[in-house]
Amino acid sequence: MLLKLKYTRTMMGCFLSIVRRRWIAAILAVLPMLSAVVVEAAHPAAVRGSGGAVASAAPAATEAGLEILRAGGNAADAAVATALALAVVFPQAGNLGGGGFAVVRFGEEVNTLDFREIAPAAAAHDMYLDDDGKPRPDASLVGPLAAGVPGSPAGLFELHRKFGHLPWAQVVVPAIRLARDGFVVNTRLHRSLAASEELLQRFPETAAVWLPEGRPPSAGSVKKLPELAAILEAYGARGAPAITEGPVAAAVELAARRHGGVLTAADLAAYRPLWREPVRFSAHGWQVASVPLPSSGGIIIGETLGLLDRLGWQERPRFGADRYHLLTEAFRRAYADRFLLGDPRTSLAGASELLASGWLDVRAAEIQTESAVDSERVRPWSQDRVEAHLETTHLSVMDGAGNAVALTTTLNGSFGCGLLVPGAGFFLNNEMDDFAVAPGRPNLYGLVQGEANAVGPGKRMLSSMSPTVAWNGRQVVVLGTPGGSRIPTATVQVLLNIIVDGDALQAAVDRPRIHHQWMPDALFAEADAVSPETARALEDRGHELRVTKTIGEVIAVRRLADGTMEAAQDPRGPGAAGVVRPEGE
Ligand code: DON
Repeated sequence: MLLKLKYTRTMMGCFLSIVRRRWIAAILAVLPMLSAVVVEAAHPAAVRGSGGAVASAAPAATEAGLEILRAGGNAADAAVATALALAVVFPQAGNLGGGGFAVVRFGEEVNTLDFREIAPAAAAHDMYLDDDGKPRPDASLVGPLAAGVPGSPAGLFELHRKFGHLPWAQVVVPAIRLARDGFVVNTRLHRSLAASEELLQRFPETAAVWLPEGRPPSAGSVKKLPELAAILEAYGARGAPAITEGPVAAAVELAARRHGGVLTAADLAAYRPLWREPVRFSAHGWQVASVPLPSSGGIIIGETLGLLDRLGWQERPRFGADRYHLLTEAFRRAYADRFLLGDPRTSLAGASELLASGWLDVRAAEIQTESAVDSERVRPWSQDRVEAHLETTHLSVMDGAGNAVALTTTLNGSFGCGLLVPGAGFFLNNEMDDFAVAPGRPNLYGLVQGEANAVGPGKRMLSSMSPTVAWNGRQVVVLGTPGGSRIPTATVQVLLNIIVDGDALQAAVDRPRIHHQWMPDALFAEADAVSPETARALEDRGHELRVTKTIGEVIAVRRLADGTMEAAQDPRGPGAAGVVRPEGE
């Protein structure tokens, strides 16, 4: 039985929605006069303008952010509009039922917003184990038992409350329009739906929306999401409580219970996003601010850069075996230390320990320049899983004043746990799998994690998401990527390309990348990352090389010293980059 939302039926609800539509239509009518906007595929070069820049994984979402910038919105307004549009047109990862992190730099002030999911109040340490202590297959991945308490509704609302400039209702408009009037299903969405068909088919509520007539909508068809549009309208009118309280929260609880989950309406109402101090460090004359625990991303990036600096990495020839070897050894140490990390309340270490110069000196001294050290192998991990069904999404936004938001958000697996909340139209995440759900068992990304990241009620599960902002004088780089455990390694390589080797933004994003995460003990490399000669040299040093399809899909914008802004989109994914060009530029 589908839930009918009561508020849409009240006279007051109707009245508000008519008034809202009228003034929003009036605002939209004057927008094109304010400035010229360009949205282009970013290949082969980044697009440029000086009035602001947006990059995201979907053209319609980039358009949404640009529309809000053009209307006089700032970077926070545009980031929220882009994220909400992604919740409509990129349901694999864009979400209301998931969570994420944002690094926000307004003027000189840098903050990070943690809107990561938390474990429900009824979660327990061994909830994914059977009576013999063995992991129950897929229990932390499929269905609402895998879902953490969503952080996005309160998180995006909070980002706007603290930093937004335009009225809240206005930043929600582009997403409402996409959901209500429809959007074109692109090839990527069609393929993702097809790849996840088995998962989506398990839940009739989901199949009714996303597999009409038993199949995913074809690429090129127009998809309307009226239930999601209604929820977004309520969200635009009343903010987070429209989702985290009342009939929507009740629908979440009902759907979760029906399919064996423990998520409750009380969990949703109790959820709070948190502002946290970013992880900060300097490298090669740049200041870097990245995401703190409960994401491991900022610590891994900081530790890697600290080790490379000590090893004289930047003085070695670019693209040579020395650089790949040292980068791999740095990654191996940073990911080994990740084993200690978890929710800040239970983490056994944090940035102050792992980025302390004493510790970086100890780690750097262990690294041999001529040979690889074995990581202790725990158990084999299937690389195929990482490449087939995973999607996270990142957006990078800068406004004309240079204020920046880097925001990464996800449901964890593509379409999260597979369950779409009936009547509300959004997917619930399967983020609980980011906890160490069973001792020694690698998670979806092959990460072997420690007790610090064990399941516990109200705990935030450890993440790898790494939205990052770096600046050097007037230059600012805003970046991030999907990719699970590969997020920090992809991010740091693009950063190194810019801050050490002086690459232009698009070149920095395009260059092939490598990845190592301690366990499994393998050096993953994109097809063109290393020449055959370098590959042989690395194997001679003891690295086991494995070719992999892609390492991340970096989405970045940048302000150059002269004030020009660039937006780049990774050729690894069909996203879109756009800039605002003031009249006459
Ligand atoms: O928080 C994390 O680290 C993971 N849940 C991210 C998942 C992800 O990046 C999936 N996509 N590629």
